[in-house]
Amino acid sequence: MFEEAQYFAPVATRDDGSVVVELASGHPGFADTVYRNRRNAIAALALGHKPGEPIPHAEYTDEEHHVWALVMQELAVKHDKYAVREFIDAAVRLGLPTDRIPQLQEVSDLLKPITGFGYLPAAGLVPLREFYGVLADGLFHSTQYIRHHSVPFYTPEPDIVHEVIGHANTLASPRFAALYRLAGQAARRVETDEALEFVSKVFWFTLEFGVMREDGESKAYGAGILSSSGEIEEFRGMDIRPLDLKAMGSTPYDITKYQEVLFEAESFDHLEDVVGTFWDTCDDDSIARLAASR
Ligand SMILES: [Fe+2]
Repeated sequence: MFEEAQYFAPVATRDDGSVVVELASGHPGFADTVYRNRRNAIAALALGHKPGEPIPHAEYTDEEHHVWALVMQELAVKHDKYAVREFIDAAVRLGLPTDRIPQLQEVSDLLKPITGFGYLPAAGLVPLREFYGVLADGLFHSTQYIRHHSVPFYTPEPDIVHEVIGHANTLASPRFAALYRLAGQAARRVETDEALEFVSKVFWFTLEFGVMREDGESKAYGAGILSSSGEIEEFRGMDIRPLDLKAMGSTPYDITKYQEVLFEAESFDHLEDVVGTFWDTCDDDSIARLAASR
């Protein structure tokens, strides 16, 4: 669903030091003062976090834990049907709690021994270069709040459901984790903004919204699809095209709607050969040549 670096409710620090998350008037939590105060408090935790320190503990209400439980239950059934095997196996290995929202520190502690990945709390917008760059170090920037409890299956922005059910489960696969790291190394290697955007778009159409052939069917491996109970039911009806670096790096997308154009790998090996190799070897020049090619 989301590009973490691009689509956050803006976070502002006022003169008195208080932190405010600016929700749009159409946001499901807009009129809920208690929810908004909690969003502000959670954003302040992330802003106060120093690298190397434990991730601060976020408080959630019972209603919010219930949202997590509902979504976990709903998605588990859909993952069995629509997710690639590598993801399903990784989710079993990670063993996220099903009845309550895990703390990000807890998610990090579960992931570390499996693939070495850890989480960093993000209050709001993380610059593209920073968000992608730290993937090379095995670090993943993540929001800590959860969607508004009035609409458990909808969120207009990336929340902990997306970040953890979508991304942490994927990051518990050594093969996927290696691809995340390669994307991070590519982001660190390129210098121009154009090349960085190309790298991030390839990430978008693969690790966020990628699909793959498996046992003669289209299966999802992108965290955006795998964390959305609506989108996971719809992706097979979208315009599914073969994996194509130039097309992925230059196709526009709208983060506020279901993705209508998707790119499908023939297999995991195919994904690694094409996208893994691209991230492993690309630089400003090779990306400029690719973007200009027919
Ligand atoms: Fe994401």
